[in-house]
Amino acid sequence: MQRRPALHAVLASAVLAAFAALPARAAGQTPFKIGFILPMTGQQASTGKQIDAAVKLYMAQNGTTVDGRKIELIVKDDGGAPDMTKRIAQEMVVGDKVDVLAGFGITPSAFAAAPIATQSKTPMVVTAAATSAITERSPYIVRTSFTLPQATVPIADWAAKNGIKKVVTFVADYGPGLDAEKFFKSQFTLDGGQVVGEIRTPLKSPDFAPFLQKVADLKPDAVFVFLPSGQGAAFMKQFGERGLDKSGIRLIATGDVTDDDQLADMGNVALGVVTSHHYSAAHPSAVNKKFVAAFEAANHFRPNFMAVAGYDGMHLIYNALAATQGKGGGDALLAAMKGQIFESPRGPILIDAQTRDIVQDIYIRKVERVPAMGNQLYNVEFDVQKAVKDPGKTK
Ligand code: DHB
Repeated sequence: MQRRPALHAVLASAVLAAFAALPARAAGQTPFKIGFILPMTGQQASTGKQIDAAVKLYMAQNGTTVDGRKIELIVKDDGGAPDMTKRIAQEMVVGDKVDVLAGFGITPSAFAAAPIATQSKTPMVVTAAATSAITERSPYIVRTSFTLPQATVPIADWAAKNGIKKVVTFVADYGPGLDAEKFFKSQFTLDGGQVVGEIRTPLKSPDFAPFLQKVADLKPDAVFVFLPSGQGAAFMKQFGERGLDKSGIRLIATGDVTDDDQLADMGNVALGVVTSHHYSAAHPSAVNKKFVAAFEAANHFRPNFMAVAGYDGMHLIYNALAATQGKGGGDALLAAMKGQIFESPRGPILIDAQTRDIVQDIYIRKVERVPAMGNQLYNVEFDVQKAVKDPGKTK
């Protein structure tokens, strides 16, 4: 009777010794923590909802271990308020000891977190915010969404080639809107067009009516619009209510306005609107059809461009962790993220090793009812500029 505990003790220490000899990750090393900071509430809540759903779909499809290392996902709501983003980023880095920061629904949130990524040498994967300069705020930032100059230049080219000579620009008055305004004007002017008015609307709770009246008064051939994800439906409703859709003034925009999250409910006023963007839920590739079907089955709503950037952000992080054999480490992960190439539901993408920004195809699309897809409204792609680098980096 006396010998059994002693035998147990011997066995226990033998087991411990065996574990100690294994590589750390196989012996139940700490999980690899990915900290997403997203606007789950407030004006940008649809961005949080879309990215959260896509990240969870990615994990359901690809498992929760990479090279034997357990993945732990942490999602926190910053309400789209940059001081909250900053506080949460600090808590995640110091308290949770996250290996990667991710998310960032709007530009001010990404700007607020950038110094924390730099100080802590934590890779920061931006899956939403799209002002060109974001990646220049920290050498630890990598982006899987897009940039406004990247999305804007192709629609300026399209407008100039399609008989549009005078344009009023109409943008949300902050980082991405100012990028859209500036790059539309420079490209369209270069193409021989003229910008005859520049309108900026407040980011918070905008009432578009007085600004739309200005557009009507200026009588341009077209109005070019950038508004952040979530504002498109309200804009489109007021555009229709003021009769602008029947005024002969064409509406062109970046795809943020004809956002797949809201498009199905916009109604006929959206028909024929031409936009440029990197993602449409109607993108006709096999990879995208599979992605959309799985996303809709899991969530009962359509994925938009935010969802795709979140899904690809997870793929980038999983690939980087696998490249370090599950060990991770800020600088090693960052090095493994640079230069990655893979096929996204949007098409082929590359993380440019120099700028850490995304290189991708930008499509020209038109809103149509698609009989083969439940007769719902979709952005139907009809032209493309291949492998567009952020023009904001090369000027
Ligand atoms: C940003 C936010 C958006 O919702 C969007 O569609 C584009 C850019 C931003 O704040 O950077």
